[in-house]
Amino acid sequence: MSEGGGWATRLGFILAAVGSAIGLGNIWRFPYQVHANGGGAFLIPYFAALVLAGIPVLLVEIWLGSETGLTTPLAIREKFEESEFLGWWAVLNGFIVNAYYVVILGWSAAFIVFAVTHGSELPTGDLFTAFKAFLTSWYPVAGVIVIWAVNYVILQLGVEDGLERANKLFVPFIWVLVILLAVRGLMLPSGLEGLEFYLTPDFGALTDPGIWIAAFGQIYFTLSVALGIMITYASYQPEGQDITNNAFIIAFANCGFAFLAGFAIFPYLVAADAAATDSIGLAFVVLPQAFQTIPFTPIVGAIFFLLLTLAGLSSSLSLAEAQVGPLRQKLDLGRTETVNAVALAGVALSLVIALEGPLGLLGEGEAVGQSLQLLGMFDTSSATYTLPMIALGETLIFGWVYGVGAFGGGQRIATAANAVSDFSIPPRVYAVVLQIVVPTALGYTIL
Ligand code: PFF
Ligand code: NA
Repeated sequence: MSEGGGWATRLGFILAAVGSAIGLGNIWRFPYQVHANGGGAFLIPYFAALVLAGIPVLLVEIWLGSETGLTTPLAIREKFEESEFLGWWAVLNGFIVNAYYVVILGWSAAFIVFAVTHGSELPTGDLFTAFKAFLTSWYPVAGVIVIWAVNYVILQLGVEDGLERANKLFVPFIWVLVILLAVRGLMLPSGLEGLEFYLTPDFGALTDPGIWIAAFGQIYFTLSVALGIMITYASYQPEGQDITNNAFIIAFANCGFAFLAGFAIFPYLVAADAAATDSIGLAFVVLPQAFQTIPFTPIVGAIFFLLLTLAGLSSSLSLAEAQVGPLRQKLDLGRTETVNAVALAGVALSLVIALEGPLGLLGEGEAVGQSLQLLGMFDTSSATYTLPMIALGETLIFGWVYGVGAFGGGQRIATAANAVSDFSIPPRVYAVVLQIVVPTALGYTIL
């Protein structure tokens, strides 16, 4: 365990990892992907992606952190010296993702306030225009400062007193919030229709390769792998902790939450006869519009944005810790200075992104995403391209280079994991998955 403290309990690690995994992606991306990619039938490729591509990489990362007790780049170096740079690349990429992730959380925090203060008199008519006006206001800048301030305080408190306590509070709470929203949604007259809209399976869609690529593409971001988080979080455990069972718990809790989020979204969309969409447009334009058509708008709206903010905060904390941990270890610094440096750099980049609106630099695009040029650029380059490339690098190193004999590193990793875990996985099967299946899937996704 790294000096400077780690998780006090096994539950603390699991909750923090689940808190990292559950985030914006689960709430605003997954439900729409299901709807758009064959309804309930999408669960088949999604499950395949989870088991064949997501969990295998999650296992590598948790094993790396657990076994070395070191954070990302140093853990990778310990196993394979020439690849330390891959870890630093993950650290840098996590920094970039966090910078724009915080911007979005800042909007979400502002929308909690709007929902409470004038929820039932939201601007009527074109909420898209209203949202663009919001982007040019100073609220996004204030939001960045608020979210970074919260992150800063929690990070300074350390792993046990900060991250563990925050996640013990946030993670159960977001389950309560998503269940509340789902129950309220299902009680609407459109409740069942919403479910049909979400889940009616179109098995014919499964012959479309695009749907399989969508499933494999979503899995890494949603599991928070390839940005150095899981290695770092796992390294804060005492020695000899369970690897396999923890990986499965984290993965299934994350995907279960995403599945539930659809119940909390589609009944409202159908009630308002609103167009289904995802991401920024869903959360900040379509859903606020939909909430206006039902009773108790302010409460429902506030619950939704509280859910989005808290789910995102635990992810953002993990993204920041993924730089704090490695920098501390590499440069032998204290937590206080390291958090100061990471937060200062992070807030600066987040502010650059948030200032695009107030400085009048938004693009002309019709879609909300298009007008956010900086945010869109960072998102595409870091999440869409770089993240799968880092995952590919990890798999090639640990599936092939780190290997022994014909069966590569997977066999060693599975054997090590089996020695400490509640249940075992077959080492040779795992080795082949890591050597062949995962790199093939990642290769396709990147191309
Ligand atoms: N997994 C989170 C989500 O789905 O929103 C976001 C995230 C957090 C992605 C941390 C990557 C990461 F390293
Ligand atoms: Na997630």
